[in-house]
Amino acid sequence: MATVTYDSATCVYDGADRLAVDALDLEVADGEFLVLVGPSGCGKSTSLRMLAGLERVDAGRILIGGRDVTGAAPKDRDIAMVFQNYALYPHMTVGDNMGFALKVAGVGKAEIRERVAEAARMLDLTDHLERRPKALSGGQRQRVAMGRAIVRRPQAFLMDEPLSNLDAKLRVQTRTQIAQLQRRLGVTTVYVTHDQTEAMTMGDRVAVLKDGLLMQVGRPRELYDRPRNLFVAGFIGSPAMNLFPLPVVDGGVRLGEQVVPVAREALGRADAAEVVLGVRPEDLEVGGVGLPLEVDVVEELGADAYVYGRAELGDRTHVVTARVDGRRPPAKGNVVRVAPRPGSVHLFRAADGERIAA
Ligand SMILES: Nc1ncnc2c1ncn2[C@@H]1O[C@H](COP(=O)(O)OP(=O)(O)OP(=O)(O)O)[C@@H](O)[C@H]1O
Ligand SMILES: [Mg+2]
Repeated sequence: MATVTYDSATCVYDGADRLAVDALDLEVADGEFLVLVGPSGCGKSTSLRMLAGLERVDAGRILIGGRDVTGAAPKDRDIAMVFQNYALYPHMTVGDNMGFALKVAGVGKAEIRERVAEAARMLDLTDHLERRPKALSGGQRQRVAMGRAIVRRPQAFLMDEPLSNLDAKLRVQTRTQIAQLQRRLGVTTVYVTHDQTEAMTMGDRVAVLKDGLLMQVGRPRELYDRPRNLFVAGFIGSPAMNLFPLPVVDGGVRLGEQVVPVAREALGRADAAEVVLGVRPEDLEVGGVGLPLEVDVVEELGADAYVYGRAELGDRTHVVTARVDGRRPPAKGNVVRVAPRPGSVHLFRAADGERIAA
């Protein structure tokens, strides 16, 4: 087991006009499950491949267990990678697939058999060891890929979207299994996904990337409660946070006919006549007074329902999402009034999107 450190690690592909990963600084603690998340092309796979030694590091360093591995070959890094497509050998049995890396490394037959049997037990694959991959379900193949990584007892697991070939239900089950297994094994893990729900449910901490830049890293709750900028605010959380560009007035910001109170020093940090107010769907109170919202769609989920509607603010129409009681949702076409719950709002500077308050 080991720590993993990115020290201003940078990667630029030949001929590219921008950095794929831009001076990434990240510390993964021993035994930690860290998730890299962000939209397509933000540099997640590149970051992981730099750690694996599969991509050149053009500036900065990479350390595993405090050892500088920036120039080390992949096989000398003592890591195991699980890819999206599993990359199983079709002509080998499940057992041979799982033990192959050990065989190449010259580990003795008895030891290989023992480690494969142990991993198979953990992964519920004991009855399938003699089969070939094509005779397995998608979920079972995914577990074989995990097993191949586990038998190596590496210092770190590196996983790149390992669940993306599974259907939605199996993905949810498997993500729980992987998270439990990782905790049991206590192996430092860097896990890549573009799915913010997966990131939030699996990670001890989550690192959000955009355009090769680290936007924020923190525990899931921190990212949710205190997003550092507009990008993280909009990316983390489903349905997404409502974001309204609003005029600054005396004592707060104007949201339609109401003034949402904001501390004076926060407004000072805004340094502009306009700020962006963020309110999560569950922090919009529906009923009584507030911004009129014409209901377009009601999504009923049982206990909760989400209302999607339109509100006029100044000369702009905003699409607004609010969570309501699932037993008493408003009807489509109705007008409801919404107001942010006191103390629940987020405030961002309009110019650069940085968080300035709450
Ligand atoms: N082999 C390559 N040669 C040139 N550019 C590349 C190469 N691989 C990736 N890129 C570029 O580098 C950037 C980061 O790519 P990367 O594959 O790391 O993104 P990602 O976050 O994993 O995206 P996705 O969610 O789609 O897998 C993108 O702009 C991509 O087009
Ligand atoms: Mg990728």
